[in-house]
Amino acid sequence: MNRDKLKMNSVMMTMQSKAVNVGLARSMVAALASQCDAVTVNALEELKVAVSEAVSNAIIHGYENQEDKQLILRADLLEDGILIAVEDEGVGIANIAQAMEPSYSQDPERMGLGFAFMQSFTDRLEVESAPGRGTTVRMFKYFCQGDQKNACQA
Ligand SMILES: Nc1ncnc2c1ncn2[C@@H]1O[C@H](COP(=O)(O)OP(=O)(O)OP(=O)(O)O)[C@@H](O)[C@H]1O
Ligand SMILES: [Mg+2]
Repeated sequence: MNRDKLKMNSVMMTMQSKAVNVGLARSMVAALASQCDAVTVNALEELKVAVSEAVSNAIIHGYENQEDKQLILRADLLEDGILIAVEDEGVGIANIAQAMEPSYSQDPERMGLGFAFMQSFTDRLEVESAPGRGTTVRMFKYFCQGDQKNACQA
């Protein structure tokens, strides 16, 4: 996902595939996004949900809840928003379009709404995946709407 915008700051975290790290991922992204004064409370809340869903998916589906695996969270703070990438080297997704359909889940106990939240709470969502090779989810979210875009002086 290429965005021709100035990078103000960036963070990359490698973390173990443990459910407790979902909160860590949310906090890191929220803290980085908060370096931009223009970010709205609403945008921060939506961003945290989207990040939680992507990291949860990597742990639950990508690594099938094996806690000794590693996933990577990258976050780039840009002039007008934030770019997030969540990467796992897990089982991968055979049919990405089907996986992204609202209410689709491989697990009948789950709602199948993770991708739907990522889609509606960010401005761009891309999924790259191959069976056996893992999954990378990239998201971009604007901090503000309308004429306040490009407002970040962080
Ligand atoms: N990182 C991943 N690795 C492998 N498969 C994935 C990954 N992320 C998503 N999937 C597949 O995509 C499907 C849909 O994901 P989505 O997050 O929308 O729903 P869910 O995780 O099944 O349910 P929910 O998020 O509501 O608990 C999953 O059921 C799984 O089959
Ligand atoms: Mg999910």
